Order: sequence, then structure tokens, then C-alpha cells
Amino acid sequence: MPALLEAYRTGEGVDWADYGPDVIEAQAALNRPQFANYIGDWISALPDIAAKLRGGGGRVADVACGTGWSSISIARAFPGVKVDGLDIDAGSIERARMHAGREGVDDRVSFLFADAADAEGEGRYDLVTIFEAVHDMAQPTMVLAAARRLLKPSGAVLIADERVAEVFTAPGDDTERLFYGYSVVSCLANGLADQPSVGTGTVLRPAALESIAREAGFSGFTILPIKHDAFRFYRLDP
Ligand SMILES: C[S@@+](CC[C@H](N)C(=O)[O-])C[C@H]1O[C@@H](n2cnc3c(N)ncnc32)[C@H](O)[C@@H]1O
Repeated sequence: MPALLEAYRTGEGVDWADYGPDVIEAQAALNRPQFANYIGDWISALPDIAAKLRGGGGRVADVACGTGWSSISIARAFPGVKVDGLDIDAGSIERARMHAGREGVDDRVSFLFADAADAEGEGRYDLVTIFEAVHDMAQPTMVLAAARRLLKPSGAVLIADERVAEVFTAPGDDTERLFYGYSVVSCLANGLADQPSVGTGTVLRPAALESIAREAGFSGFTILPIKHDAFRFYRLDP
């Protein structure tokens, strides 16, 4: 909290690592059950991509993978697929490697400590996933442009980000309030830690994400018909 107060005084941010291990593990614990149970269904909303992954091969880049549970769950849902998770937070990657080893999938799942904007592996991936992280990125356009470069010509990006209202309204509903709460105490300050930053914060509305995706060069932007209380899912085509 003192670091957060200081950040609002100076306009600087708070690094994700400075939130401490409890916050990193809470984020992981919050999303892990749904990754374990639903990630196959979410990817099946991209039928052409899911068919390729079910074919027994294929490669997925899980951008901003945090502690790795999404990457591990993708490997479980699609046996035979290789998953490369990457994240800019060293402590998360350390945990991700430990989780993959413990879960026995480290022959197909690997993790890299890197800024996704500099990701390498042009034209290598059938699918790039980004779960609950575009709004945290200092330079989301650069990251999405990198994600586009990673794709095979027939590949696609799957993004899950918060299901906030399509336009700002006052007073906001419970979902808006929840996500603005997260924004003020976590995502906005975290996004500002890495300068220069566009300072998005948790409330990333579909029109804003579409304009980032178009700027990054994507020609296709589709909101997927996946029912979820907190996430909205997007498909980007190169
Ligand atoms: C809210 S967490 C989500 C983690 C995980 N995807 C999940 O759903 O639990 C946001 C993650 O984005 C990562 N991140 C932010 N900017 C990044 C960048 N430029 N490259 C790679 N990872 C980034 C952070 O380190 C953090 O792990």
C-alpha cells in the first residue's frame, strides 16, 4: 500500500513483483480452476484452430502466462500440442516451471522470461493466447503486433479480458465497480511501472481493444459467443 500511495503521488507505477508473492499466487489461484475445466471449450470456439490442435500436433504461445496454469491446461486439453508460455515477471516464470514439472507436462510445456513485445518465433504458432493481461501491458499494440508475427498465416489469437460494459456509464453496475476497484489498486499502477506506458488499467472496453488490434495489423476482430460472468473473449485474425 505505501508503494501504491507513492505511485499515485508521483505518477509512477508499481511493479508486479512489488505486489509480493501473495498477489501473484492469488491471481493464479483465481484463474486456475477455470483454466483446468474450461480452456478446451474456450479454444473450441475457434473451431478451425481447435481442429488443428486436436490433430495431434500444433504449437501454442501463451503470452503473459503468469504462473503457467493456462499453458499447462492447454497441454492437457490438447495432448500432443507444444505450448510456450512467456511472461515479463521472473517470479511468475519460476513458479510456472515448477508447476509444469510437478504436473508432468514439462516435455511439452516450456516457459520463457521475456517481454512479449520482443517475442521470437515468427510464423511458428497455430494459436496465441492472452488471458487477462492485455489491459496490464504498458505497450499493448507492440505486444499484439508481436503476437501477429508469431502466427502461421492460418493461425489466430485468443484473448480473454474483462467483461466490462461496452461504454462508460455512471453509475456503473457491479461489474464496472469491481473492475475499476482492481484497476485503482492493481492493474493501472502495475501497467504504469514499465515506461513508456499507455496506462490502460483493468477497464479495457471492446472498442478500445479493437482499435489496438487494428493498429497492430489484425484484419479480423470477433467477439466470441462464450458465456462467462467476468471475461469477454476475442478472436483476432491476421
Ligand atoms: C493479471 S496477470 C495474468 C496472468 C495469467 N495470464 C492469468 O490469467 O492468471 C497479467 C500478467 O501479464 C504479464 N505481462 C504484462 N506485460 C507483459 C509483457 N509485455 N510481456 C509479457 N508478460 C506481460 C504480467 O507479468 C502478469 O503475469
